[in-house]
Amino acid sequence: MENTELSKKVMLSGIQPSGDLHLGNYLGAVKNWATLAEEFDCYYFMADLHSITVRQNPAELRRRSLAQLAQYIACGLDPEKNTLFIQSHVHEHAELGWILNCYTMFGELSRMTQFKDKCAKNADNINGGLFTYPSLMAADILLYQADYVPVGEDQKQHCELTRDIAVRFNNIYGETFKVPEPYIPKVGARIMGLMNPTSKMSKSDPQGCVFLLDSPEEIARKFKRAVTDSDTESCVRYAPAEKPGVANLMSIYSSVTGKSFEEIEKEFQGKGYGAFKPAVGEAVIEALRPVREEAQRIMADKAYLQQVYTQGAQKASAVARRTLRKVYKRVGFVEKPF
Ligand code: TRP
Repeated sequence: MENTELSKKVMLSGIQPSGDLHLGNYLGAVKNWATLAEEFDCYYFMADLHSITVRQNPAELRRRSLAQLAQYIACGLDPEKNTLFIQSHVHEHAELGWILNCYTMFGELSRMTQFKDKCAKNADNINGGLFTYPSLMAADILLYQADYVPVGEDQKQHCELTRDIAVRFNNIYGETFKVPEPYIPKVGARIMGLMNPTSKMSKSDPQGCVFLLDSPEEIARKFKRAVTDSDTESCVRYAPAEKPGVANLMSIYSSVTGKSFEEIEKEFQGKGYGAFKPAVGEAVIEALRPVREEAQRIMADKAYLQQVYTQGAQKASAVARRTLRKVYKRVGFVEKPF
């Protein structure tokens, strides 16, 4: 296993298979992930063990885990350059998760804001998994001796706890885990909803959300209906405070065409929103066409997908196994003779 991979820093992220990817995910984050593999040894997995902390429809969960994997590959995550897998295929996650539960305090878990939020939303299913979710997430990260975890605001507290757990374990048993750092990714454009340009594009507002798998007709329709402004000026000008709708469309257009805001203002001078909105729609349709076609091709090619996640799980498992073996030894389990 002596290769350059080993000298690269390890980056890891779990993805909840919670729905199809949209333009905000793509332009804001995933599109930039493709290049991370040059610098880092990257692991990405579909976090299905985490998903069942809230009730799931089994067929839907299975379908989404695969569909989402296909969509990430279509966005440029090359399975030859990244380790892509499904969390439940690498049983070490569940095993280390249990161990780390015993090194995570009730008080720490009680303080997690996401737990409190999820309790409020799922009052009829406040289960133990929801509570111990952060220990499993710590296991996900520590199994691979990850150097970096790209985190958004919502996962910061979980990453902090992961560090605390790693330090605690290392203090008791000696150096076992790499203590991971949060990685603040280079953010792409912050894409807002087309119907409500003051909040982030989200699948919970499907009319204002452009999905990677939307047909060109749907995309065109969504952009035609996009909220611009209540002003009567109908002038394409970048003024996010006054004209958030127009600014958002300009950000989208700029992201997909590479044009600057000045160039865009010039291009649409004297043309008004009536010309601008469909032009953004067209540009997005062309930018997403290859991604959508590739995603559909991969989703239909079950054998290829299976090969990707099999190879991914094998690679991940080889690394995870080593860490878990070390942990079992440290905590005092009798060595397994087979
Ligand atoms: N908890 C993360 C989320 O809800 C998903 C996740 C699970 C994760 N395990 C991880 C993210 C490990 C980073 C590292 O988005």
